[in-house]
Amino acid sequence: MSSKAASVLRRALLYVPSSSPRFLEKSRGLTVDTVSYDLEDSVTPAQKPAARKNIQDFLSQPRPPHINELSVRINAVSSGLALDDLTSVLQAPNLDALVIPKVNRASDLHFVTDVLRHALPERHSASSTNPLKLIALIESAEAITNLNEICKASPYLSGLIFAAEDFALDLSLTRTPSLMEFLYARSAIATAARAHDLPSTIDLVCTSFRGPEGLKTLEQECLQGKGLGFNGKQCIHPSQVEVAQRAFAPGEKEVEWAMRVVIGDEKADAGGRGAWTLDGKMIDVPVVGKAKATVQRAQLCGIDVDAIREKWKHQEPE
Ligand code: COA
Ligand code: MG
Repeated sequence: MSSKAASVLRRALLYVPSSSPRFLEKSRGLTVDTVSYDLEDSVTPAQKPAARKNIQDFLSQPRPPHINELSVRINAVSSGLALDDLTSVLQAPNLDALVIPKVNRASDLHFVTDVLRHALPERHSASSTNPLKLIALIESAEAITNLNEICKASPYLSGLIFAAEDFALDLSLTRTPSLMEFLYARSAIATAARAHDLPSTIDLVCTSFRGPEGLKTLEQECLQGKGLGFNGKQCIHPSQVEVAQRAFAPGEKEVEWAMRVVIGDEKADAGGRGAWTLDGKMIDVPVVGKAKATVQRAQLCGIDVDAIREKWKHQEPE
């Protein structure tokens, strides 16, 4: 895990259709890492102007207390609607990030970056510390083949999202429960983000959201995505957020193990030992690196790591 990945938390990114005042108001009371107010596919063409106005008004009111990051998903640069979206939403004071759909090549992000520098120069000068962050949706074969260039296209790029439905459409794939057909694309995205030190990799939408069965499917998808290197999940319904945020935070056992490795390693190191064992398994430099990253992420997720350190302070290297 990179240092940047350890400092940005987007375990759940919840889409809220901006055309719906009811959904906008509902979002105000939610607890979620990132909300993305949508102007793209959940809003019909006829509703786009009203949705822009809704979102501009909403983001001009006091910040919702328990949403860490407020973002807007604009329309794709290729749609011809992006400039109107940006002109409208960039006036809102409480905007932290933009989600850019259908990023197919570097020029899509160059366009948005140029608009940001022109429209909000004070936030996008060389010395500014609070620029808007960009999160790019990867939704096509062309995007996958251009990942390297896309990742280098903007200094404000802060993450990649995999959009399974549009990707399946592009490649004429049928989504199956195993998600095996997306393995190459998901791995390519997680690998490219890591290679360019982008902190967020946000996985495909789970379309089931109702009842225990739906949430079980969601949890399994989250764990599979985590195993592929993703650190967050797109959500479409408030019921999905808690499951995703739990799955993408380190689990209790994971943090305990990591803390035991960190403490054991401090003692092994003091005793001049680079490799040692814990529960019969070898611990060496990369394992210790992973354990330290887990402790750091646990802290970011609000887990009381000091209490866990206290519990395991007598851990010795075997
Ligand atoms: N954001 C904010 N609030 C939402 C929400 C969302 N995405 N989805 C549902 N809610 C709210 C509803 O307003 C309702 O609250 P209320 O009764 O206090 O008004 C509550 O959550 C329960 O909603 P529910 O009745 O279960 O859902 P629904 O049938 O109204 O809507 C969907 C279901 C799937 C249509 C809706 O969740 C949705 O539009 N999701 C986003 C889809 C989207 O953005 N797609 C594009 C990105 S992939
Ligand atoms: Mg899409």
